[in-house]
Amino acid sequence: MEITPEIAKKLELLNEKYQTMGQDMNSYLDGLLYMDYLKYWDYVHTDTLLSLQNPRTNFPDEKIFILYHQITELFFRLCLHEYEQIADKQNIDAEFLISKVRRIVHYFDGLNTTYGIMIDGMEKEQFLKFRMALLPASGFQSAQYRMIELYSTDLINLLNHEYATKHPAVKMLSAEHMFEHIYWKTGATELATGKKTLTLKQFEEKYSEQFLELSKKCSKGNVYARYNSLPEEDKSNPELIELLRALDANINVNWCLQHYKSAVRYLQGDPDIIAATGGTNWQKFLPPRFQKIIFFPELWTDEEKKEWGKSWVENLLNS
Ligand code: HEM
Repeated sequence: MEITPEIAKKLELLNEKYQTMGQDMNSYLDGLLYMDYLKYWDYVHTDTLLSLQNPRTNFPDEKIFILYHQITELFFRLCLHEYEQIADKQNIDAEFLISKVRRIVHYFDGLNTTYGIMIDGMEKEQFLKFRMALLPASGFQSAQYRMIELYSTDLINLLNHEYATKHPAVKMLSAEHMFEHIYWKTGATELATGKKTLTLKQFEEKYSEQFLELSKKCSKGNVYARYNSLPEEDKSNPELIELLRALDANINVNWCLQHYKSAVRYLQGDPDIIAATGGTNWQKFLPPRFQKIIFFPELWTDEEKKEWGKSWVENLLNS
């Protein structure tokens, strides 16, 4: 084989690379010689991926339920990959924020257009049975969903609405105090007794410390804080504003509504399930018009905030 100038140049560069680290290029060339070719299935870990669906019953549709939750968690991972870069970026500018937020919006588009798999894709009779074998687990315990919320906005915008409006000095509260009143804790409190459900207790035991640490890191690194740190000229960039509004609507209205629709389809009027979810009132917890979680409140008009999720709910549920 002829050693062309191009190959000689590459060898020179390789040699430089290894020398810088005190390594011997020749040994690495031996490694190349013995190394096997990379295969798709090894790179993507297909076998591992396909071995992770372990239904707890024999109802075939339970597999759909597991797979779609896993697909959603992978989409959440894609989102968090972008959120982490937004939080860590030094000297952030509008262009960077636009490119990252656009990707997250895109990922949630993917979730919202496929969520029908959960609404129409399983037999209700099977769902109602296999669901009972999964208690007290719930998508409520998706840590990545909570991380997406913490990476999106200031902790104050995630507070239980009633609590936040009753406490005028809420801005002065510590992160620890605010975290105790984060909106989702009310979604897993028993209506009759006011006690935390087992679902919530177990979730807190595993993740509270990690969430609190993340919320402190995110006080400056969340998307809203990063947006607010931009110069006025960048803050009024119409493309950026449009994308942030799209992100808010995609997560806090569109996804929430699709999800609510699946709960209505399977759980409405089923007393066993209602009892089995620890007596929580999901009808009052899941619809966006009750929670009113808005990541970027200053980017919406008062009218839009007042109507949050309302017309969307009606359109969706009537369709
Ligand atoms: C047939 C499909 C589904 C039904 C019937 C359903 C039902 C519910 C219900 C009733 C709750 C309220 C908490 C509870 O009582 O457990 C809840 C919460 C939740 N579920 Fe689902 N779910 C479904 C699919 C999914 C999927 C695919 C995900 C994806 C990870 C998911 C993620 C969540 C999250 C993040 C919450 C908490 C919502 C919040 O705090 O605002 N769910 N779900």
